[in-house]
Amino acid sequence: MAVMMRLTAEQYRKLPILANNSTCSGKTYIVTGGNSGLGLETARHLVEFSSARVILAVRNLSSGEKAKSEIEKSTGRKGVVQVWHIDMASNASVQAFAKKASEELDRIDGLVLNAGIMIDNWALAEGMESSIQVNVVNTLFLGTLMMPKLSEDARKLGTHPTLVFIVSVLGYTVKAEMDKSRQGSIFDGLNDQKKANMDSRYALTKLVEELAVRQFAALCPVEKTGVVVNMVAPGLCSTGLGGDVRTFTKIMHEGIRAMMARSAEVGSRTILHGLVAGEESHGKLLSGCKIKEYWVPGWVSNAEGQRLQKGIWTELVERLESVQPGCISQIS
Ligand SMILES: NC(=O)c1ccc[n+]([C@@H]2O[C@H](COP(=O)([O-])OP(=O)(O)OC[C@H]3O[C@@H](n4cnc5c(N)ncnc54)[C@H](OP(=O)(O)O)[C@@H]3O)[C@@H](O)[C@H]2O)c1
Repeated sequence: MAVMMRLTAEQYRKLPILANNSTCSGKTYIVTGGNSGLGLETARHLVEFSSARVILAVRNLSSGEKAKSEIEKSTGRKGVVQVWHIDMASNASVQAFAKKASEELDRIDGLVLNAGIMIDNWALAEGMESSIQVNVVNTLFLGTLMMPKLSEDARKLGTHPTLVFIVSVLGYTVKAEMDKSRQGSIFDGLNDQKKANMDSRYALTKLVEELAVRQFAALCPVEKTGVVVNMVAPGLCSTGLGGDVRTFTKIMHEGIRAMMARSAEVGSRTILHGLVAGEESHGKLLSGCKIKEYWVPGWVSNAEGQRLQKGIWTELVERLESVQPGCISQIS
């Protein structure tokens, strides 16, 4: 619970905007879920700071177009935002997006893997519980599929493109829920409706995502790939997240949010920090615009946590390699 106390204290701290014209001018960024909440505010800042191109990767194109008009109106900059389709619940859609981005963009400086869902009803997407599919499997899939392009740009341009995963420290509160799936296949356990407590499912997806990213980053050091991979926990923010959850979870989240949530704009500053944090942030947790590795609980970082991290990664690799052979072996 120490981390929740730290998070609560930090919610009231003023956050700096660490990106600016000199960090973003002429650059290209992709933000998944860029049509709303934290993604929209991140994209708006990137446009404001003279980026050459900002791609909103969205599942609903009309919502993406609406976000584009809003950004153009508030920043006064047209011809920068593009709206591209991606459905993070679908392997094929993620593959198609990665192919298009790799082939059509002359450079990518930052990819923010922000799209995510908080649900508490059990539903499947391509055979996997849908929030695990969106927040974990396909988020890691998109990140790994984009690595060759990001790496090539790093070499070509002498830059460090950055891959920012959006996690949540709520993940550190669900050790007991994670423990239910440690025996046998981890993903089979996560996909077992009888074992699942859906009130803590969102937090569990964010824990599994973080553990997978930690292993991914460990296997892809910046010295080898030229790419910085980090994780941003934006803190509690007022967005549309969890809009469809049942009463119990809703009251909890909305009650806490009403007391201490940041606006989406303030939350987006933590993501901007992720984009400019550089090599020293590789593989690390960032929150409140600082590196916060000391927030990571011992059970995540100790030998047992490392075993879990490696186990999650090994199973994820098996799944993703069966969808697209070679997608992981090409990066590590
Ligand atoms: N808000 C917080 O307090 C908080 C705290 C910690 C971490 N986060 C993380 O921050 C990220 C952004 O969330 P938010 O708070 O800004 O909530 P949000 O406003 O609900 O944004 C989520 C975005 O993800 C998109 N998305 C969901 N499923 C998708 C799919 N299958 N394919 C493509 N896009 C999809 C949504 O698209 P639609 O508009 O079409 O639904 C939306 O644009 C999430 O990863 C969340 O877990 C949020």
